[in-house]
Amino acid sequence: MNDARPVDMDVLDEFGGVDVHLLQYSGAIWYPMVYDMPKGSKRRFAEQKRQRGMDRARSYVDQVAGTWVVPSAGPPAFLDPELRYLNDEGRVDRETLGGDPSNIFPDQITFLDQMKRNGNDGGLLFIPGTVGDFKGKELVALTHPVPEAEVMDIFENKTAYLDAFAARQASVLEAEKATWAEDDGVPLLGALKAKFEPIMAASPLISEGIGYPVGLEMASSDGSVETVVLDFPARTVREPQEGDGKYRYGFRIAAELVRTVLRDDEPDWVNTIFLSTRFTTWRIGGYNEFLYTFFKCLTDERIAYADGWFSEAHDDTASTELDGWEVQRRCPHLKADLSKFGVVDGGKLTCNLHGWQWDLESGRCLTSSGHELRAKKLT
Ligand code: FES
Repeated sequence: MNDARPVDMDVLDEFGGVDVHLLQYSGAIWYPMVYDMPKGSKRRFAEQKRQRGMDRARSYVDQVAGTWVVPSAGPPAFLDPELRYLNDEGRVDRETLGGDPSNIFPDQITFLDQMKRNGNDGGLLFIPGTVGDFKGKELVALTHPVPEAEVMDIFENKTAYLDAFAARQASVLEAEKATWAEDDGVPLLGALKAKFEPIMAASPLISEGIGYPVGLEMASSDGSVETVVLDFPARTVREPQEGDGKYRYGFRIAAELVRTVLRDDEPDWVNTIFLSTRFTTWRIGGYNEFLYTFFKCLTDERIAYADGWFSEAHDDTASTELDGWEVQRRCPHLKADLSKFGVVDGGKLTCNLHGWQWDLESGRCLTSSGHELRAKKLT
């Protein structure tokens, strides 16, 4: 289970028991590190994000109930000096297993420790190159690519490990950067208009869901900044105009990166620019799921599929009962089964699949605009 987040665990049961469960437990997102917000709030949000990610992974561990659990697919290693601050280098010795509590990229040791504290001893430490030999439920042998003593050394001396890794990969990074488009100073408004306006026109539901103009600031290496407005309500891409005020959502991205994705006709800015964490952003109010869906779907086929998906996503005919509330069975976000993933606390419902929250009294989504939930207090 890497990006796979099954919403229907009962279907998995039909395959019989699971012997070895490999799952993602660490972060794979840019939130909240690239957000322009006060340091204290950023730290708090990051702490929540880190813990929530591991809690979700543990809830999958419980539900899948495999004999062995291998924390895998993470954490990423940020090797570019510019991004090096993103690594969790907080561990100092075997006693301080927690790493940096405000870093969203915990490592295997941290997660295995959390499993243990919660009474599960079935966790196995794998590093790249580890071979596990299983016969059904039986673990026959576990072989690491380096001597046992060096395995823990990776986690205890992470800075040295990352330094060596970065040195080995330096030429690869350099070669990749050399492929980026040149910052030739030609304004980007025209190219962005040509790229985005047809997509906006083809996605009424998504454009309405975004609901406001979004600012895109593109900074060139000479220090100049071009600002372009993605005006979703008007379905146009334009220059800033009087009365715009502060954009409710804004992005600041290096112009050379925008030129690169435009040159490559990149259909998905989320998996390129955003996941690279090479940008900053700000927002007033909640996260806007529709906006990132838009940036993921920059071709006719993709946007048609996504717009259609949203229009069918409101099937809330089935209900479930949670703590004295009757709520729709399927999560309004990505349809998780709320009888399994829903947690009620006071008047708030949290879906543990992605941590989205709703106010039960009004049905309002507290995490993203739109996505109302049907809920009724049972007497
Ligand atoms: S499915 Fe994503 S929060 Fe419920």
